[in-house]
Amino acid sequence: MTVKEIQAPIRQELEEFEFKFKGHMDSQNFLLNKITHYIVKRKGKQMRPMFVFLTAKAFGTITESAYTAASLIELLHTATLVHDDVVDDSFERRGFLSVNAVWKNKVAVLVGDFLLSKGLLISTEQNEFELLKIMSTAVKEMSEGELLQIEKARRLDITEDVYYEVIRQKTASLIASCCAAGAHASTKDVDIKDKMWAFGEAIGMAFQIKDDIFDYGSGAKIGKPTGIDIRERKMTLPLIYALNKADKKTKKRMINIIKNHNENRKKVQEVVDFVISSGGIQYADKKMHEYKDQAIQMAEIIPESESKKALLGLLEYTIQREK
Ligand code: IPE
Ligand code: IPE
Ligand code: MG
Ligand code: MG
Repeated sequence: MTVKEIQAPIRQELEEFEFKFKGHMDSQNFLLNKITHYIVKRKGKQMRPMFVFLTAKAFGTITESAYTAASLIELLHTATLVHDDVVDDSFERRGFLSVNAVWKNKVAVLVGDFLLSKGLLISTEQNEFELLKIMSTAVKEMSEGELLQIEKARRLDITEDVYYEVIRQKTASLIASCCAAGAHASTKDVDIKDKMWAFGEAIGMAFQIKDDIFDYGSGAKIGKPTGIDIRERKMTLPLIYALNKADKKTKKRMINIIKNHNENRKKVQEVVDFVISSGGIQYADKKMHEYKDQAIQMAEIIPESESKKALLGLLEYTIQREK
């Protein structure tokens, strides 16, 4: 399925959403307005609003609740990207300079806070208590995930299981909340909401593994830097697998580079080559497909419809996408 086909059942809703989303970004503050305009002009793939609307439609009709959920989630997602680029010291986002690259870290931290609070505000204005409950869980998990990742980057001792825990918290929880909030907007059935959370979580796992594979690529067209995970001592699945398989001497050498020479491009390239030749990418790809298959199984409870087809198309896009 093409992106256009995936969006077909919710085309109007996405247009309306974009209009509303721009409005939510407005403020009275001159600098803030300049920055939020800069951000909305460089919009991302908007996969999260797509997950919200498609699950909402798969279980009923789209109401104002689904718009509020999509806005809150995309605002929160944008806030975490602005913050994440500060944390990762990254100067490119969506093909342009990141907010911290143009306006410095302190501004980026405050802009991220503004976006998050705007999301909370529109949800309380709409009395969306259940939505806020779903989202607060995700926000808490995201911060914990990023901190667990930092802790592991310091010690360089992450295991495959801990890696899954990190990505479940920092990324999968938000995609889980997209599907849970979308379902909740259309049906008040708690069991469906919980099952859609699990469905979104599996997709989110596949989503972040895909993102971590991108970091080992050449960087063509993905709109953000590659090779920065090693620089930041972030040990992701391809590297964890390669290190587990390596002999003692090689492992020691690679860890030493990651620890002491992560600013040296030639040496970092040596680690990248080692990961690739050890089959780290293939292994991560295999795991990504396992999460995709889990998600497909969980989709069995969704009634057959165009929206369900599109939702499965969006799942396929998650692992096939080129950015
Ligand atoms: C990037 O998310 C952050 C991760 C969780 C890896 P997206 O790839 O969805 O970012 P945009 O919104 O399309 O730029
Ligand atoms: C995603 O991890 C973290 C978030 C929850 C925003 P990354 O640090 O790998 O995301 P990118 O690659 O910068 O988008
Ligand atoms: Mg990052
Ligand atoms: Mg990444």
